[in-house]
Amino acid sequence: MPNGIDTTITAGVLEIRIDRPDKKNALTSAMYRAMNAALEAASGDPEIGVVLISGRGDAFCAGNDLADFMAGPEGGEAAFEFVRAIATFDKPLVAAVQGLAVGIGTTMLFHCDLVYAAPDARFIMPFVDLGLVPEAASSLLAPATFGHARAAALLLLGEPMLAPDAHQAGLLTALVPAEDLLAHARARAAALMAKPPQALQATRRLMKGDPAAIAARIDEEARVFREAIASPEAREAFSAFFEKRPPVFRRDPGAD
Ligand code: COA
Repeated sequence: MPNGIDTTITAGVLEIRIDRPDKKNALTSAMYRAMNAALEAASGDPEIGVVLISGRGDAFCAGNDLADFMAGPEGGEAAFEFVRAIATFDKPLVAAVQGLAVGIGTTMLFHCDLVYAAPDARFIMPFVDLGLVPEAASSLLAPATFGHARAAALLLLGEPMLAPDAHQAGLLTALVPAEDLLAHARARAAALMAKPPQALQATRRLMKGDPAAIAARIDEEARVFREAIASPEAREAFSAFFEKRPPVFRRDPGAD
């Protein structure tokens, strides 16, 4: 598919493949819109029981396309819609992660049920480094998954988490050798398809806890994110990325 998202349906499993390897699978607004449409169609289609998300190439996903973020708050709107779509999606989600998972490449995984990763997977949430704040309820779900102190290293320092640590910390279902990753994830998705669908869906709902709390946090994050994206800190971080230089942040940007 020319928009960077490839979708296929096999025996009731919708596979959404992020397919923009030359840009490390960074997600543009068009790609979010394609994923949102695929999730919406899957949600309303009784023949589809499971969704599997994967990425082509050496990186799972380098997060939001920073050029879209540079365009201002409207550049993030399709991403917010994706966050809401994946957080409220009512069928099992499986993910296969290799290489880098940055920003939403990591935060979407909090909403997936079975997450398989290759040993080279690295999870990075560099929101603060970009002058931004966490999204996809990760400000709630990262501390809940890792505890506050480990989440702080990820969210405040932006430190990467390596695959074995992510597995041990509970972000991942299992580590799988890279060459078997997709086949393994597909086999587990097929195993879910064979389960009684009502019991599966009801169990998943029970496991996910209070959807209102997640939704409220997503909205709260989005409000702060929209302000941050237009801030001098964020503009400097985005410019520095594309100019391939270290960013320079001013301690008191309102001083003059
Ligand atoms: N938005 C837009 N373009 C991106 C991108 C992103 N999030 N991530 C990578 N790219 C582009 C690079 O600009 C580069 O394009 P070019 O070949 O035209 O110069 C290409 O993808 C390859 O990336 P490169 O930086 O050369 O690869 P790398 O292996 O050295 O580093 C990353 C990979 C992912 C660590 C690095 O690209 C990066 O830090 N990207 C930004 C991640 C990010 O902050 N995402 C937003 C989170 S909210």
